[in-house]
Amino acid sequence: MSIINCQLSIQKMSVQSSTKVVTTYRLSEMKARGEKISMLTAYDYTMAGLVDKAGIDVILVGDSAANVIAGHQTTVPFTLDNMIYHGRTVTRAVNRALVVVDMPFGTYQGNSKEALSSAIRIMKETEADAVKLEGGEEILESVKRILTAGIPVMGHLGLTPQSINKFGTYAVRAKEEAEAEKLVSDAHLLEEAGCFGIVLEKIPAKLGQRVAEELKIPVIGIGAGGGVDGQVLVLHDMLGITQEFSPRFLRRYRALGEEMLSAISEYHNDVKTGDFPNESEQY
Ligand code: KIV
Repeated sequence: MSIINCQLSIQKMSVQSSTKVVTTYRLSEMKARGEKISMLTAYDYTMAGLVDKAGIDVILVGDSAANVIAGHQTTVPFTLDNMIYHGRTVTRAVNRALVVVDMPFGTYQGNSKEALSSAIRIMKETEADAVKLEGGEEILESVKRILTAGIPVMGHLGLTPQSINKFGTYAVRAKEEAEAEKLVSDAHLLEEAGCFGIVLEKIPAKLGQRVAEELKIPVIGIGAGGGVDGQVLVLHDMLGITQEFSPRFLRRYRALGEEMLSAISEYHNDVKTGDFPNESEQY
């Protein structure tokens, strides 16, 4: 390698490392100073690049990819290999955001040794920054064991889609006192175990605020009201690429699904009529 090339690669490396600014420590600082945390899902290189460029703090390679990308009814069928594939495509695009990869159903429940090896595979093969697991007390042993390897863990309580077959519904969780108290107690257990943050999904806003006030670690909500420390949405839902899913908590920022459909129809028409390609679009 020439001296100039060597200098250029050093320069590139230092730009990359100085722009990779969001760490779990930075998130805890944001909470401490009351700065809201932005989080969005991404499942591929192109979209993750856009999300990172927009300055989003945390990118979640969610197992919602099972629904949004793979067309499954639930997240249950998604595998570790599926998550690793998506995680790897995302981290290649990201320079700044913290990247969290969901551990899929069946890779951490009930066997903490398996949980640790699944988490290690995710970290080694995707080069992500952290993993996320659904559940509280019942998965605590797995959370603790993953943390022993120095892998940052994010919790997920409230509506936990991997347990949809147990719940039987995607309705709001923890409306009753007993379930709300269990959620608060689980949140404390996850914090005490060493999680760096928790996602709360589809619970009453008051409960979300209570958990955020009681915990020192950041609490990120999806349908958990405005009193939490940050918000997460599924990218394809907030962009309006997907249209069939319309919970109250979802704000659609664009109707890109309609835009895309109309562009594709126009192209179809142009091919059929011979309008595409024109003179300037050929060699
Ligand atoms: O998989 C996912 O997209 C998630 C979010 C809903 C938080 O877990």
